[in-house]
Amino acid sequence: MKPRNVRPVTSQDYRELAAKRLPRFLFEYIDGAAHDEWTLAVNQADFGRLRLRQRVLRDVSEVDTRTMLSGQAASMPLALAPVGLAGMMARRGEVQGVRAANAAGVPFTLSTVGICPLEEVRGAATEPFWFQLYMVRDRDLVVQLLERARALGVETLVFTVDLPVTGMRHRDWRNGMVGEGLAVKLAKARQMAVRPRWVLDVGLLGRPHDFGNLRKMMGNSNDLDAYKKFISSEMDATVTWKDIAWLRSLWPGRILLKGIMDTEDARAAIGVGANGLIVSNHGGRQLESGTSTVRKLPEIVTAVGDLIEVYLDSGVRNGVDVVKAVALGARGVLIGRPWVWAVAARGKTGLADLLAVFQQEIATTMALMGINRIADLGPDVFESAPGISD
Ligand code: FNR
Repeated sequence: MKPRNVRPVTSQDYRELAAKRLPRFLFEYIDGAAHDEWTLAVNQADFGRLRLRQRVLRDVSEVDTRTMLSGQAASMPLALAPVGLAGMMARRGEVQGVRAANAAGVPFTLSTVGICPLEEVRGAATEPFWFQLYMVRDRDLVVQLLERARALGVETLVFTVDLPVTGMRHRDWRNGMVGEGLAVKLAKARQMAVRPRWVLDVGLLGRPHDFGNLRKMMGNSNDLDAYKKFISSEMDATVTWKDIAWLRSLWPGRILLKGIMDTEDARAAIGVGANGLIVSNHGGRQLESGTSTVRKLPEIVTAVGDLIEVYLDSGVRNGVDVVKAVALGARGVLIGRPWVWAVAARGKTGLADLLAVFQQEIATTMALMGINRIADLGPDVFESAPGISD
């Protein structure tokens, strides 16, 4: 029998707890990725292939993990990535997420397709949060969302560019996360029936379960399936750089383009006036067999120089990964699955604990490399030339 843990510590610990709490279609929606999940696997594996230099006798009594992310002071170079439907994983999941993020001193990003609307998250937040936008066909709707976000004090807009269509996520098809009809409804009901704690805590007490940001446009419907249908019919595959220029003209704050995996696209991002980009493959959920983000990062950092801030997500699971990404030139990282696993498993307390572990891991790793400040992390922390070779 597996020994019982005293408490969860790592992302993986929270993942295991989330698997026990969530109905299968929801757990696998978080856990899964596109096709055979090769990109998901390399995102993590490539972090493990980078070797760090151990340095000693350098007075590391005052390691400082603080930094600036998109013009905002942060306790460490980490932010919470936008995750749709977080409010299905934990009761009002986005509110719990923003509270834990604010307490830990890191930015929180609200997804367009979050369960909690902008206004509800604003009500819970003590610091400015970031808002993630998908381009939908109805441009008036985009303008309205931007106006609402702006009025609520959002300064950083994360615009996701790697989802003109949704990736083929086989687990979602298998479990009934995608699809409709009686068989799908029954399958989901069966998966919920064996998770009574979730049914009470989230299913009943966590209502309403709609895409809060789109509620007004949907006539206050309470049917999540109707929302899903609406959003998939509204996703705009015609979007090009011209639309980013349009967005730039509308949004006076900062824009981070999320989902850049190519140097040419990175240069184009500078051309349209983005303030930053996020090297991301959506956690392996979109293009299957794409490169890992940590492998791509150095090339993109070199291509853009100091002209734009570069962030990374996809595959970050602990503080050592954060240190590696920053040493390769990222201003900071975003984490997706780890924060949702933590909030699903233990609510905002779980997430606060996980963030504290991340920070301690960053500080410990820096100390053991003889480094006191985030700004001193650079390519020379690696054993050989930075970058991953086969
Ligand atoms: C996401 N991601 C995402 N991105 C986005 O821009 N808008 C969204 O609504 C969502 N929704 C979403 C749901 C779930 C369940 C996951 C796991 C991911 C992608 C997310 O922001 C981020 O890019 C990845 O999660 C990063 O990879 P890791 O940290 O999960 O490996």
